Amino acid sequence: MVNREKEAAGKSAVELVQDGMVVGLGTGSTITYVIKHLGEKVKDGLDILGIPTSHQTELLALQAGIPLTTLWEHPAVDLAIDGADQVDPMLNCIKGQGAAHTREKIMAYSANRFVVVVDESKMVNVLSCPVPLEVLPYALRLVERQVTKLGGVPKLREARKKDGPVITDNGNFVLDVDFGEIIDPKKLDERLSNIIGVIEHGIFTNADEVHIGRKSGVEVLKKS
Ligand code: A5P
Repeated sequence: MVNREKEAAGKSAVELVQDGMVVGLGTGSTITYVIKHLGEKVKDGLDILGIPTSHQTELLALQAGIPLTTLWEHPAVDLAIDGADQVDPMLNCIKGQGAAHTREKIMAYSANRFVVVVDESKMVNVLSCPVPLEVLPYALRLVERQVTKLGGVPKLREARKKDGPVITDNGNFVLDVDFGEIIDPKKLDERLSNIIGVIEHGIFTNADEVHIGRKSGVEVLKKS
C-alpha cells in the first residue's frame, strides 16, 4: 500500500532529527506522517522547533504538539523535510501539487540539509508531470504567453470546492504547465525563474537526499 511506503519514508527522515534542531516542515500527505512521528518524539522529550510551509502543516503540527517558530526568528534551518510529486535519478524534483511550493522552496534554500520523502511511485527516469507555477494574478496572461513560448501548455488550476481558481496560502494563482519530458531540469528551472510575474515554480534541483519508501524497505539516495 502506498500509504505504508509514504509512512516508512517519512519515519526514516525523522530519524535524522536531533535535539536542538530547527526543522522545516513541508506540505502534503507524506509530510503528514513526518509530523505524526515527530510529534511522538516530541512527546517523548525531543527538543526541537518546527517551521511550517503551509496552513495545513501549521495546523497539523500544532495538533501533534510540535513547538513552532518562524523563518524571521530562526532563519538558519538545520534540516528541511518535504514530499515531492516526481523525482529523477539526479534528485531533481517536481513539487507543488498541493500549491505550497513557493514556501517549500524558500524553506529548502533556508536549510542546511534538504531531505525529500516519497513512495516509490514518484521515482521516474525523466521528469514529465506538469510544473506548477505560483503566479501573481495581475501577471496571468503575460506568464501564459511566456511559458507557451518555452513550449509549455499552461492550465489555470481550478478549485474543487470553490468556484474559480485555486488561491494559494500567499493569495496567488497556480498555473500547471505541461512541458512533456523535461530533459534539462536545471535549464528549465532558470528559464522559469526569469519570467516576470512567476513568484516561484515547482522544479527543485537542490535536494541533498531522497528517502524512498519501497515495498522492500526504505532506500536512501544521496547527492553525489
Ligand atoms: C505541496 O505543494 C507539494 O509540493 C507536496 O510536497 C507534493 O505534492 C507531495 O505531496 P504528497 O506527499 O501528498 O504526494
